[in-house]
Amino acid sequence: MKVVRTIVELPELGGEVGLVPTMGALHAGHRALLDRARAENDAIVMSLFVNAAQFDDPADFAAYPRDEAADLRMAEEAGVDVVFAPSAHELFPPDFETWVEPGVAARGGEGDARPGHFRGVATVCLKLFQIVRPARAYFGQKDAQQVAVVRRMVRDLNVPVAIRVVPTVRDPDGLALSSRNVRLAPDERERALALPRALASARDAADPVAAARAALNGLEPEYVEVRDLGDATVLAAAVRVGAIRLIDNVLLEGAIG
Ligand code: PAJ
Repeated sequence: MKVVRTIVELPELGGEVGLVPTMGALHAGHRALLDRARAENDAIVMSLFVNAAQFDDPADFAAYPRDEAADLRMAEEAGVDVVFAPSAHELFPPDFETWVEPGVAARGGEGDARPGHFRGVATVCLKLFQIVRPARAYFGQKDAQQVAVVRRMVRDLNVPVAIRVVPTVRDPDGLALSSRNVRLAPDERERALALPRALASARDAADPVAAARAALNGLEPEYVEVRDLGDATVLAAAVRVGAIRLIDNVLLEGAIG
């Protein structure tokens, strides 16, 4: 496995390349993306870049967990060919000034809760697609609106990449794996379980949004909404548990792929 920090050092891989964009702090959710990419491509590139441009809160960026040594071990185990781990200046030099501005796909939900978030996500993803030139790029269902925004950008800007979506990986108790979960105190983690439970129980209700809101067991939702991913619709919600913000979603219609 090669670890590359600059664009010019990226090797010509040949065949079809699968790209898995990440911000590190890798867990079994990321691993599922890497495994799917490994199975479907001749070579895989994993990017490792904590993208300041998509954090609306500098404190959240500063507190984001970082453990490159552990991330490289997981990447190696998963059969990654190249880890692209650029510096902030390599992707966003001081004179950087051109941004991708997403439209309706970025409104509501995470877009309203985190101003500028999807502009940062869309811009870094387009840059990664241009730099790596993958045949396929892999994203998690966990961040459903991110999937909607990236798919829409790829269509609107004619980017030659297929966006693949991998179902959310959960702990045995149902909590969706997230790099932020390590910051939950034991009692907060217990309360957080109301989120996946409420979403799961609301799936078949006549009004899933109202049913999920009613089942949140005292957790205050930032939003509960139905979101279209192109090939599927999901019921998505965000809650705050103590200082930690958690998001999750379940499939309502269609298929994740
Ligand atoms: P990050 O939060 O590191 O997530 C990288 C990918 O892993 C995303 O596509 C995310 O949806 C997926 N993922 C996270 N938790 C998951 C879970 N429990 N099950 C399945 N997939 C999961 O999302 C980002 O980074 C960034 O926005 C990025 C796309 C890298 C752009 O900076």
